[in-house]
Amino acid sequence: MTSPLKVGIAGLGTVGGSVARLLQEQSAVLARRCHRPLQVVAVSARDRNRKRKTPLDHLEWLEDPRQMIGHPDIDVVVELIGGADGVAHDLCTGALQAGQHVVTANKSLLARHGHTLAALAESRGVTLAFEAAVAGGVPIVKTLREGVAANTIERFYGILNGTCNYILTTMAKTGAPFAAALKEAQTLGYAEADPAFDIDGVDAAHKLAILASIAFGTQVNFAGVYCEGIRQICREDVTAAASLGFVIKLLAMAERTADGVIQSVYPCLVPKDRPIAHVDDVFNAIMLKGDYVGEMFMQGRGAGGNPTASAVVADLIDLANARQTRPFGTAAAELESLPGLPITRREGHYYLRFQVRDRAGVVADITGALGREGISIRTLTQRDESHSGGSVPMMLTTHRCREQAVQQALAALAPADYLEEPPHLIRIEYL
Ligand code: HSE
Repeated sequence: MTSPLKVGIAGLGTVGGSVARLLQEQSAVLARRCHRPLQVVAVSARDRNRKRKTPLDHLEWLEDPRQMIGHPDIDVVVELIGGADGVAHDLCTGALQAGQHVVTANKSLLARHGHTLAALAESRGVTLAFEAAVAGGVPIVKTLREGVAANTIERFYGILNGTCNYILTTMAKTGAPFAAALKEAQTLGYAEADPAFDIDGVDAAHKLAILASIAFGTQVNFAGVYCEGIRQICREDVTAAASLGFVIKLLAMAERTADGVIQSVYPCLVPKDRPIAHVDDVFNAIMLKGDYVGEMFMQGRGAGGNPTASAVVADLIDLANARQTRPFGTAAAELESLPGLPITRREGHYYLRFQVRDRAGVVADITGALGREGISIRTLTQRDESHSGGSVPMMLTTHRCREQAVQQALAALAPADYLEEPPHLIRIEYL
């Protein structure tokens, strides 16, 4: 009998609990697909007494997950604690240094320290695997790192945060306000421990930086991601977008150019007929284009215990079959360090919403400021609130123009006394 691959699981929250259950329930399937049996030998979690769906009492319980470092019975540490620093960082660094493999779902750790950890893993001849860190159950890491490795990828985009997609879909379909939709997503176990990471776009930015590194052969550059979340999206925008033939999605986009890498996360208007416009609820999706393979579109559940556990265990199956790859595909020492390019480089279409006092000259003033920056208006709508002098929303879309010009026009309008709140800008992506 081949010796088992011995696993320690650190963190038994939504994902950790599902991993433990999957390993137990799917043991017959896994036995057929692995050269070596997978055996969980130890676990560590904050609360040992919490009621769990999978019996774990027969396993070794470690008070501090760091006790897994160099533990003679643990070949692989599965890190599901989360957080870029602190215990998760200590554990992953210590385990790799001690010659143990690490499987993690921790995107913030990888976005901040991915390059160093990959170099460490390579120097010790062990694996750092993180399929579960991006897009939940969608095997996009493996696809980019191995499946399309023969291609040059210049650009990809996707929906990488299930919570935001759930919120935006719910707002569009039911008219629910933002806060109620967020609460629902939290109840369903999609949101991060701190949901600000989801709704401010940080979680998607972490994932984008990881994917860009694999796709472009560059060092992870999380600091270079331009990031906007969805807090400012209101029902008014969702309705206006729909009437213009768009849906609002939080898109993560990356492009490699001759001067550097553009990485951005922001909510945008997407035409209703694009495939990504139909990716709803907690689903994630990625559209990539390779020079040989052409366009490829993948979608699946991007959050939640079971889909993420599916990705964690896929990494364990690779290890049990001795399939080892470099963490980011390219050797860590050869990952290029390219500059991140600013959002002001963008050229495209824009949707602007102004909450204004309904009085003579306001439209002329706004369109005048845009015109002075060379911005041409494509559509213009003001909702009829039926009494003069009241507060009304005015929405417009632009023809193609430079981001810098739009920012300058909005800065020029900022002091206007008829503005009831700062103008809202949402980019339009025709994709
Ligand atoms: N909170 C994340 C999301 C799930 O909503 O997509 C884990 O990455």
